[in-house]
Amino acid sequence: MEAVPDNPMHDGRSPNQQLLPLTAQVLSADRADADHLTIGGCSVVSLVAQFGSPLYILDALTLRTACRQYRLGFERHYPGPSQVLYASKAWSCLAVCAIMADEGLGIDVVSGGELYTALEAGVAPRQIYLHGNNKALGELELALDSGCVVVVDNWHELKTLDHLARSRSQNPQVMVRLTPGIECHTHEYIRTGHLDSKFGFDPQDVPAVFQFLSQSSLQCLGLHAHIGSQIFELQPHQDLGGVMAEWFALAQKEYGLSLSELNIGGGLGIRYVESDDPPSIDQWVQTVCQGVREGFTQRQLPLPKLLCEPGRSLVGPACVTAYTVGSRKEIPQGRTYLAIDGGMSDNPRPITYQSQYRAVVANRMGADADQVVTIAGKHCESGDILIRDLKLPLAHAGDVLVVLGTGAYNYSMASNYNRIPRPAAVVVAEGNASVILRRETYSDLLRQDCLPEFLQPSIPT
Ligand SMILES: Cc1ncc(COP(=O)(O)O)c(C=O)c1O
Repeated sequence: MEAVPDNPMHDGRSPNQQLLPLTAQVLSADRADADHLTIGGCSVVSLVAQFGSPLYILDALTLRTACRQYRLGFERHYPGPSQVLYASKAWSCLAVCAIMADEGLGIDVVSGGELYTALEAGVAPRQIYLHGNNKALGELELALDSGCVVVVDNWHELKTLDHLARSRSQNPQVMVRLTPGIECHTHEYIRTGHLDSKFGFDPQDVPAVFQFLSQSSLQCLGLHAHIGSQIFELQPHQDLGGVMAEWFALAQKEYGLSLSELNIGGGLGIRYVESDDPPSIDQWVQTVCQGVREGFTQRQLPLPKLLCEPGRSLVGPACVTAYTVGSRKEIPQGRTYLAIDGGMSDNPRPITYQSQYRAVVANRMGADADQVVTIAGKHCESGDILIRDLKLPLAHAGDVLVVLGTGAYNYSMASNYNRIPRPAAVVVAEGNASVILRRETYSDLLRQDCLPEFLQPSIPT
């Protein structure tokens, strides 16, 4: 495990409101490597020289600070028990899961693979919650074998799980995912009775679900809802408490279910570009807690154990991706394209969601950003553009370009498109760097390939 920073809360800054990781510094002008960017006390240029390019660089202090701000926020704003889970879909690997567990967080997983990763990282099964709108039988069996909590999403799963539990004489712990009718966009939200979502039970199904649960072999711990991702508004999360409290009241008063846990999902946004203005982690936690307290108090219900499951706001701001600049194409009266040695295979978000990012040149931090360039990936897709019309200092082949805020939904969505090996990842803290994901090799790319005998090159006689 990397060294634990002395000052875990750092200087009170909320990581999700920063463009750069909390430890980012620029080396002073009196050094040979003046103007170079350091993260976690490590020079980014030296990290690339040592570990290769592209490289994901995860700052332990930023990650741990975000975990602690969530945890301490609940301690401050919620009088009942609470548990923060990490939505590991944002970045599932052994080291990230282990850091989360070390910080006292549980893990939300959405597949057998993520469940296996969390278990192998040493996370206690009771701290793992399995999501998914179409869990395979094998995934449900792994969940029952391990003893994690299953978040039931739909009728097919509810009946399958009940049948499976009876056949194994088990009474597994479950939560039920409901669609609360609150739909968020980044800057506005709508509230409807019914939502066109593939996840969770529709509100009209809720009474029948409670009826089924009251006679099933499943121990229903409570209810779950998740209303969206990269949300900057607080009001939807405030309102969610009231909606969920209403369903708690129904479950307990009409169906005799004694529910003890409420999971209000994740969704807090982060600053990818200067104009992004998300609330802080503490403001989000305070709002969630207030909504739940009001909703439950108004209905004279005891406060549930309150769970949340952020992903992006924990891991997103803690990581950057360092690339090496290669070719440059200047179109007369048009754009200037600066090509880097990665792109949509290590960060598919821009081509998938038109997501925006910012970048800096790690070896020219003090230079004026007086050029407008477009950062092009190296894949055979015209759309493989990481950042359009970015202001940067003049950058040449060999310079190190650092894209910010790449911890969430980058490595976890990475592919081998164009048979490009996935980059390595390192965790940095107090001047030390440790590999947490090895760089793939060409032979890794062929790991699953089979060449049937009839296709094997014949040796000329
Ligand atoms: C059920 C559920 N929980 C938690 C999350 C994490 O959301 P975020 O990364 O925006 O915090 C997601 C992401 O979409 C989700 O679907």
